[in-house]
Amino acid sequence: MRLRLAVIPGDGIGPEIVREARKVLNRVAQLYGHQIEATQVLMGGASIDACGEPLTDEALEVIRQQDAILMGSVGGNPATSPWYQLPPQKRPEAALLRLRKEMGLFANLRPAYLYKELRSACPLRDEIIGDGFDMMIMRELTGGLYFGQRKTEEIDGVMTAVDTLTYNEMEIRRIAKRAFDIAMKRRKKVCSVDKANVLDSSRLWRKVVEEVAKDYPEVSWEHMLVDNCAMQLVKDPRQFDVILTENMFGDILSDEASMVTGSIGMLSSASLNDTKFGLYEPSGGSAPDIAGKDLANPIATILSAAMMLRYTFDLDQEAAAVEAAVQQVLTEGYRTGDIMAEGCTQVGTVAMGDLITERIRG
Ligand code: IPM
Ligand code: MG
Repeated sequence: MRLRLAVIPGDGIGPEIVREARKVLNRVAQLYGHQIEATQVLMGGASIDACGEPLTDEALEVIRQQDAILMGSVGGNPATSPWYQLPPQKRPEAALLRLRKEMGLFANLRPAYLYKELRSACPLRDEIIGDGFDMMIMRELTGGLYFGQRKTEEIDGVMTAVDTLTYNEMEIRRIAKRAFDIAMKRRKKVCSVDKANVLDSSRLWRKVVEEVAKDYPEVSWEHMLVDNCAMQLVKDPRQFDVILTENMFGDILSDEASMVTGSIGMLSSASLNDTKFGLYEPSGGSAPDIAGKDLANPIATILSAAMMLRYTFDLDQEAAAVEAAVQQVLTEGYRTGDIMAEGCTQVGTVAMGDLITERIRG
């Protein structure tokens, strides 16, 4: 199969972690007889430095010609980086939001899974961890506060800022359907998270989710308020299978869920639209403080590449081979610094990528 990829290394640790994921993909291609055609694309700070804006129309055009995007991360340290002297719509993160919107990537899948080998990296108590947990956060990605109108102005001498949270029923329905479809392939449970005791958008969310749920009689489901969900994630994470939620709540809850799996360096992600096209990236940020030091954990990016094999290319066997290689490296006791535990062997970004690559079976 021909795999046409836009590769966006981005900023901070992005280039290092993407390099390791590409090593893994090249090995998969070699073993399973696929051809990878990778086109490098600049985005974020790297694009600001080279082209004066975080995502050019030309770059977007190149991306449109590919089947999928493999991305590292974008952004720098707002306190020190000159990128943050620019107006908000010219900053690195604006590129990511534009890319999500332009490609219609409304469904963001973030699987939070606790490897039994990483139990000691999990900050929760043993009796809470139990036999581990495995959840899928389905975050709506092209609506809500991220894309509503915003402005900052002076009203009667007082600086005032407005952000708007808008959802229409179509946007809610399509993400809800995705969540229920995915639940059907898992443990058939959906927890829809909102703030319906305060927000109109959440009340509409509830109504539409209830309608969608009727088409999935096998799925057990519930509504949960977001503040309660934040609490339940650390009190009893085993109760969750699929968590369905809007953009901003999903941003926050997915970071929380990643931390209970040990590290954000383990959390992969896929952002999908109505076609097979997808954007695959780790859920974590660009971590400029550790960039270039061979310290970053490449596993989230490697697992994102596995999601790409599965969701865009339907290469389930290849995806499983990557996941098995990650599992094996952890079982053998290799760890990057963020998930290091007593008795394990600490390795850097490159060595972790090599170890996983070597363990991929054809
Ligand atoms: C994420 C990130 C982004 C988001 C930032 C970089 C804009 O935190 O993918 O979770 O908030 O969506
Ligand atoms: Mg986030």
